[in-house]
Amino acid sequence: MKFIPARKLNKLPPYIFSRINQLKLEAHSKKLDVIDLGMGNPDLPTPEHIVERLCDTVRHHPRTHRYPQAKGMPKFRRAVSEWFEKRFGVSVSPEKEVISLIGSKEGVAHLCMAFLNPGDVAIVPDPGYPVYYNGVVLAGGRVYKMPLLAENNYLPQLHKIPEKVARKAKIIFLNYPNNPTTAVVEDESFFKEVVRFAKKYNIMVVHDNAYSEITFDRYVAPSFLQTPGAKSVGLEFHSFSKTFSMAGWRIGFVAGNENIIASLEKFKSFVDYGSPTFIQLAALHGLKEAGGCIRETNEIYARRRDRFIAELSKIGWEVTPPKATMYLWAKIPGKISAAGSLAFSELLIKETGIAVAPGIGFGKYGEGYVRFALVTHDNRFHDAALRIKKLLGHPV
Ligand SMILES: Cc1ncc(COP(=O)(O)O)c(C=O)c1O
Repeated sequence: MKFIPARKLNKLPPYIFSRINQLKLEAHSKKLDVIDLGMGNPDLPTPEHIVERLCDTVRHHPRTHRYPQAKGMPKFRRAVSEWFEKRFGVSVSPEKEVISLIGSKEGVAHLCMAFLNPGDVAIVPDPGYPVYYNGVVLAGGRVYKMPLLAENNYLPQLHKIPEKVARKAKIIFLNYPNNPTTAVVEDESFFKEVVRFAKKYNIMVVHDNAYSEITFDRYVAPSFLQTPGAKSVGLEFHSFSKTFSMAGWRIGFVAGNENIIASLEKFKSFVDYGSPTFIQLAALHGLKEAGGCIRETNEIYARRRDRFIAELSKIGWEVTPPKATMYLWAKIPGKISAAGSLAFSELLIKETGIAVAPGIGFGKYGEGYVRFALVTHDNRFHDAALRIKKLLGHPV
């Protein structure tokens, strides 16, 4: 028997990272010493006090083994609200303006389902984290790709979005600190412009702030919700995956516009029960004790960033140090870039055992770049740079 999946599955672009994953497995099976800088999957363990809280809760509080509350337990939502106030000076109601998520990826995909009718238009950054594009397509919507270009510091030029598109669009996705470009918002003027644009065209702003805490060199990432009027037009997604190295725990949250949150909550209540209660309890403990462990994590990423940039520079590959995220966004040097970022990434993993994310995997404007995730020990970067130099046969 042959079962045919829904047409919308065929509309999704090929998942380029699965090609790299497959080559990574092949490299492992050939006993190549793999240096995995591909996926943004933190290698650091979750801080001890969060793990302790989880173990203690699971062992001693069997009530937490029951179904959780889909929107998140009140204690979790209160902790989010307190953290938001303390971190951003923004007040969000734990009752009406916050819900928990099974990771922000889940939340973004379900938000698309909850708000897009077939044919509705959403404005998606290119390059961008793939779930924005895929979430829109799975909901039957149409994507308008908004280029993020180096010459504009990877901020979109909202005035270049055609009037016809802006009038039709229902959602615009933004993400700063940005994956994959590592760009940040430097002052409040950009988000103010976003609010004006959203009000003018009646567009929902979805700001993904998954990297708000992974910042360096005294840079502090803002919340979109700090912008006057932001709550009337949008909401902001947050993740525990990078902040507390909890990618496998699957928990995040979204805060902002009460009406949007209510519809998302309604949609989610039909399809999931939320993150397990014991995970919510451990995660909220993380939020309450956020300072020290985040500082330590950022020191580690900053050290890796500096080390790898220095090693790459020694072989002639210059990369601008990012102020945030645990990535380097690197322009593929020289003639080899003509083959394209996928071919270059395939060559890297096959010949050197180094896994990276090809820029094209984030959209056509990502072509010509690769993204290195700083998710391996510092002492691997010297070797990684030497292998790249050897592959290219000369300094880049
Ligand atoms: C921009 C961005 N948003 C969301 C996520 C996913 O976060 P979560 O693990 O909370 O689903 C990622 C993960 O890499 C990301 O880069």
